[in-house]
Amino acid sequence: MSTLKIKNLNKIYNPGKNQVHAVKDLNLEIQDGEFVALLGPSGCGKTSTLRMIVGLESITSGTIMFGDEVMNEMTPEKRNVAMAFESYALYPNFTVFENLSFPLEVRNIESTIRTKKVNEIAEMLQISDLLNQKPGQLSGGQQQRISLGRALIRDPAVFILDEVMSHLDAHLKFKMLFELKKIHQNLKKTMIYVTHDQMEALALSDKVAVMANSELQQFGNRNSLYHQPKNRFVADFIGEPATNFMDAEYNGEEDQGQMKVGDSLNFFLNEESINAMNNAKISEATIGIRPQNLSVEPLVGGKSVKGQLLINEFLGERSILEIESNGVHYKVLSYPQRNLNKGDTMTVYYHPKDVMVFHPETEELVMETP
Ligand SMILES: Nc1ncnc2c1ncn2[C@@H]1O[C@H](COP(=O)(O)OP(=O)(O)OP(=O)(O)O)[C@@H](O)[C@H]1O
Ligand SMILES: [Mg+2]
Repeated sequence: MSTLKIKNLNKIYNPGKNQVHAVKDLNLEIQDGEFVALLGPSGCGKTSTLRMIVGLESITSGTIMFGDEVMNEMTPEKRNVAMAFESYALYPNFTVFENLSFPLEVRNIESTIRTKKVNEIAEMLQISDLLNQKPGQLSGGQQQRISLGRALIRDPAVFILDEVMSHLDAHLKFKMLFELKKIHQNLKKTMIYVTHDQMEALALSDKVAVMANSELQQFGNRNSLYHQPKNRFVADFIGEPATNFMDAEYNGEEDQGQMKVGDSLNFFLNEESINAMNNAKISEATIGIRPQNLSVEPLVGGKSVKGQLLINEFLGERSILEIESNGVHYKVLSYPQRNLNKGDTMTVYYHPKDVMVFHPETEELVMETP
């Protein structure tokens, strides 16, 4: 298997009056052996994209290529892609063992090897004690692991996993993610993992494709999505707790560009953003600053704003502080704060480089064009 190339891919269901444009002009290149997450809110077109890659859904327009070979018209069998979906699609009359063994059986793999592989996978996914049961007797999370096992037991060119952990409790999910990461490191096969959970996506993947409203928003690694989000949607979707957004007026006339929020809050920008704002010739924008980049301790080279503490959400190993300044609210992530109370006056520090600026209409990050 070589690079998976998706070019100008579109999917329109029910063309005509009530059509749904589920995937719009998607361009994506996934290198051989890469672990890529497809991340986005419900209905943004993730499953539709996968089904076209697998060959279960027709392509309205565009091209899907494995290396130099166009896949558009090829049957799923010929594409050599293994997949597991959220809805488990297990054979109800087969035992768990038979369900896992089936993909090997159809490939005429010898019975002793089949048994060995099934036992290995079952152990890894912690379902060894379920091998003689039928799917109907199992919980959603157990069925999900069997469905995942059935994909992993094969030796395909590409693995496609669609929301395969959604029914697992947090503890088990963490273990399974770890196992999946190990499996990927061993097999070095291309994996496309679909989720709407950004933590899962960032924890697992080399790169993440963020989708919204049927369109790709940004394709990049953890670092670029977190530090250089292309637009407000990505800045909002990636990161926990969520980015603070505030509508601001730009004042670039003084020696340093500032964003004025409400009556009494002023955020300084760094030089790059000042240049970008001057070039963009806009006087209003939305600023975004992550709670992680706001601090109640002075920062070397930092600036500060003031406000009153509204809520101290004490979470054991950390506190999320909600601060108010003349009707403007924002959150600060802090080490645990036991002695702060509502109404306390706070000084909050930040670095101007961490203040992101988004265009008021396009919502794109306002940045210097290289
Ligand atoms: N067979 C279909 N016929 C008509 N519309 C469809 C069909 N399948 C999906 N859609 C629509 O296409 C859009 C994208 O759906 P898709 O299943 O790809 O989203 P998703 O990102 O996988 O969402 P989720 O996270 O909820 O699984 C949705 O608006 C959905 O209603
Ligand atoms: Mg889906």
